[in-house]
Amino acid sequence: MRIAVAGLGTVGGGLLNLLQQRDSVQVVAVCARTRHKKRTCSIEGIAWYDDVVTMARDAEVDLVVELMGGEGGVALDCARTALQQGKNFVTANKALLARHGAEISRLAEAKGCVIGWEAAVAAAVPVVAAMRQSLLANNTQRITGIVNGTCNYILSRLETQNEDFATALRGAQEKGYAEADPRADTQGFDSAQKIALLAALAFATPPALDEVSVEGIEQVSLDDVNFAKRRGFAIRLLAIAERIEDKISLRVHPTLVRLDSDFAAVCGVRNAILYQGDFSGQVFLAGQGAGAAATASAVAGDILDIARGRSTPLFGTPDAKLNPLPFFPLQDIVSPWYLHFRVQDKVGVVAAIATVLSECNISISAILQDDTRARQQRAMSCVSLLMWTHRTPGSAVARALHAIEKAKLLQGRAVAWRILDDEPQVEQQA
Ligand SMILES: NC(=O)c1ccc[n+]([C@@H]2O[C@H](COP(=O)([O-])OP(=O)(O)OC[C@H]3O[C@@H](n4cnc5c(N)ncnc54)[C@H](OP(=O)(O)O)[C@@H]3O)[C@@H](O)[C@H]2O)c1
Repeated sequence: MRIAVAGLGTVGGGLLNLLQQRDSVQVVAVCARTRHKKRTCSIEGIAWYDDVVTMARDAEVDLVVELMGGEGGVALDCARTALQQGKNFVTANKALLARHGAEISRLAEAKGCVIGWEAAVAAAVPVVAAMRQSLLANNTQRITGIVNGTCNYILSRLETQNEDFATALRGAQEKGYAEADPRADTQGFDSAQKIALLAALAFATPPALDEVSVEGIEQVSLDDVNFAKRRGFAIRLLAIAERIEDKISLRVHPTLVRLDSDFAAVCGVRNAILYQGDFSGQVFLAGQGAGAAATASAVAGDILDIARGRSTPLFGTPDAKLNPLPFFPLQDIVSPWYLHFRVQDKVGVVAAIATVLSECNISISAILQDDTRARQQRAMSCVSLLMWTHRTPGSAVARALHAIEKAKLLQGRAVAWRILDDEPQVEQQA
């Protein structure tokens, strides 16, 4: 198997280092933006290309690996050219597949080519392989994942080191976990791309990136993390794909998870996926979700698997059988909630908020008020009011927040996050 590698950065360098320690495949061509650049890997004796498309056309090459990144541009050109030439294609690029996966899948099938993309979701964690093979016989009920290492690192620092958001983010950037512009991670878009891909695999549907409801972690404060902890919860950014009757729900949002749960134990840049199938029950996969070695492991696994003759459609199901499914509205999803109101410290405010919640049919399971001493130390005139609710649809919470904001009871914006529970949605709809 003669392969060409486009992109020699973190992952490309890691891949070359890995493959140079194995002798089963031969890297015959490489391409990157800048030829004379200090690399983490040796490219001695390998043909250099300045242009990806020319490299992907090289008749000597059997398989093209794309490790440049980006939703379209050269990554898409690389995929199209490789497949049109009948070459197999491996990528770690979730942005490319989430946006152009349907086209790439169609082209691959028309040309009889195989696509490997294990590294695109959770790097070394073999979730794509598990879903394309071992779990294939199941009807998937729900996939819940921590799929962004940067966000998980930041939330873990708040939780375990008592750092505020800005300090934790700076630390993530210094360690190379977060980009200089971290918004794709912290605003949840990276997680959205990944859950769109897993949903395509799980529900035999084209990736529906634009249908993912996305809320990132930028509103998560150290206070919230500590309030949650006091009641036995951690906060994680969860990406969820769920089948609800004949519809699917795709969402990414900060979520409270029990401190004794598997998700709360996932700290730092690790990733984890909880798969729930009708026959498999719950399967929990966790491991390194980023980094040169872990990502190279997944890319190389795909290359070796293709070399052994594996041939599975991109999304597990032949392209002609991928069916767009209707979407279940986020506001109809029912769950318990954590609510955080910053209010003026004066008589009647708590009662007024409780009245609005009651009018919106929201039943409260616990109330906590920020203790006076901590507040005095911070010399604040406002007080934090925390409420935990019983299972409530998002529409009721949205209605209540709107009414509370309109009544000018708040100092700043209210926070409302779901608490993870295992209850199915359909019973609530009945
Ligand atoms: N880093 C991770 O932990 C990780 C984990 C999972 C998935 N991924 C995915 O893996 C892919 C690569 O990520 P990375 O972190 O390795 O990125 P990176 O370090 O920024 O490397 C990108 C590489 O692509 C090359 N490149 C950029 N534009 C190019 C062009 N127009 N023509 C040719 N080469 C070009 C760059 O060349 P120069 O070196 O010459 O600038 C560089 O070698 C992305 O899709 C990413 O989402 C990364």
